[in-house]
Amino acid sequence: MKSHTSLAKFIHWSFSILYAYGIFKQVGDLSELEDPALLNFEILFAVAFLVIVFIRYFYMKDTETLLGANIEIRKGHLFIAKSVHTLVYFTLVMLPLTGLLIAGLFSIGAGGIELAIGLHEFSAFLSYVLIAVHVGASFYSKLKGEGIWNAMTPFWKEKEKKDSRLISYLEKTEDKVYETIEKALRL
Ligand code: HEM
Ligand code: HEM
Repeated sequence: MKSHTSLAKFIHWSFSILYAYGIFKQVGDLSELEDPALLNFEILFAVAFLVIVFIRYFYMKDTETLLGANIEIRKGHLFIAKSVHTLVYFTLVMLPLTGLLIAGLFSIGAGGIELAIGLHEFSAFLSYVLIAVHVGASFYSKLKGEGIWNAMTPFWKEKEKKDSRLISYLEKTEDKVYETIEKALRL
């Protein structure tokens, strides 16, 4: 069974910790940025985060999506997975970029900071939704024992493809969704 490289797994899981740290250590409100040490730390963190996201993107961009699958992957399925991954990257770039925009506007005392904060909050919200969808999809695939989980996750490994009446019902429903997407997008 195919698997992601050890480096890909290391980046995926260490980056997940960095993302969680970025979300939990978030700035409470604008007045906190009056502390120059905090402002400098935020800027440094945002730049480092952005650089790591780009390195990861370029390392992963030619890697096959859902490569560990022990089932035939339909084009509609691949389209959804690739779209979610791309949108996750988009939010991971938007979060530090809009943070840096806040820092820039705050430092020079220019207007428009409310809009920058709005964009920053929207990026955070979008990242929660997309990552929840991503994690939910990973657990859903694990429930069916498709091998996709094993390719990226070094713990709680799946042993084999699972079959039950519920799983075959879910797979038939999924097939209809993929067929609709394939027809609509002429994949
Ligand atoms: C419990 C948490 C998580 C689980 C179980 C999980 C599971 C997985 C699995 C199984 C894959 C491989 C999919 C494939 O082969 O195409 C994957 C890839 C990916 N995951 Fe996660 N993931 C988790 C958390 C996260 C978080 C927090 C992020 C973002 C900060 C993230 C971003 C990505 C991205 C962008 C990919 C595509 C491959 C890449 O570019 O590295 N994941 N994940
Ligand atoms: C990767 C870097 C960053 C991450 C992951 C991040 C994450 C977050 C999150 C999750 C929130 C809460 C949003 C919400 O209410 O839903 C937030 C708020 C905020 N962030 Fe960031 N941030 C980053 C960089 C920055 C930078 C560089 C600055 C400016 C120096 C900044 C300034 C702020 C401010 C002022 C708020 C509060 C907005 C308000 O008044 O509600 N952030 N950040």
